[in-house]
Amino acid sequence: MKSNQPSEDAVQLWRATRTYGRRVTALDDVTLGFRAGSFTAVMGPSGSGKSTLLQCAAGLDRLTKGQAFVGGVDVTRLREKQLTRLRRERLGFVFQAFNLLPALTAKQNVALPLRLAGERSDVRARARAALAAVGLADRSGHLPGQLSGGQQQRVAIARALVTRPEVVFADEPTGALDTNTARDILSLLRSVSQDHGQTIIMVTHDPVAASYADRALFLANGRVRDELLAPAAAEVAARMTDIELETAGVGR
Ligand SMILES: Nc1ncnc2c1ncn2[C@@H]1O[C@H](COP(=O)(O)OP(=O)(O)OP(=O)(O)O)[C@@H](O)[C@H]1O
Ligand SMILES: [Mg+2]
Repeated sequence: MKSNQPSEDAVQLWRATRTYGRRVTALDDVTLGFRAGSFTAVMGPSGSGKSTLLQCAAGLDRLTKGQAFVGGVDVTRLREKQLTRLRRERLGFVFQAFNLLPALTAKQNVALPLRLAGERSDVRARARAALAAVGLADRSGHLPGQLSGGQQQRVAIARALVTRPEVVFADEPTGALDTNTARDILSLLRSVSQDHGQTIIMVTHDPVAASYADRALFLANGRVRDELLAPAAAEVAARMTDIELETAGVGR
């Protein structure tokens, strides 16, 4: 397949297709860019390919066809070792599968990516600041088992942000949080993109969460069906309903 010239975008998918076996096309020939410093909400019905898009863009899953660029690097061409390094040094993840280490305290979990990246200076102070930013300054010495589900999720968010990664991939980061805590986290993500120029790609089912982003993408059957800029919650909800009816075969 022809190689594609990477654009200025922090993340770019080019004719990205991911099939599972012969029957399932989770991602279907998607070409898409994510500007540096942008905050995008990825929406769509269950099974529409949101997590697959995220995993493939982050080099956690392999595309069947096409290319995925992160910061100009084609992740589909990297070996496992180079991918690990790219993820460790330049990317952040908030995925449910990325569990906290149960024997480490909240602060030690958050400090781990810094230590893995070989950082020496201010590791403790930076971990403490990242925990404070998610409202958990007073839980830094707790083990994951001593924290609620939402608190654990916030530790995972602090861990994803502590290295100031170029791109943060988040799959339902506010799913387990109450409304107020969710808003704090969404504001934090927005300021991370606006003030620090980091790129955020967030999967969510929640129209209010999507309204914190500067763009909402709507997937259906592995394709980008629609896009809204500066999405308002009501508009997002209406668009979601349309797409759900459409993919259920109603309203044609
Ligand atoms: N490892 C896998 N093996 C086989 N099929 C898979 C695999 N992972 C995903 N799929 C299929 O690919 C399609 C897209 O899945 P994906 O997880 O990306 O959906 P999603 O939009 O994230 O859904 P949800 O909102 O439920 O999380 C689904 O039909 C799913 O069954
Ligand atoms: Mg998913």
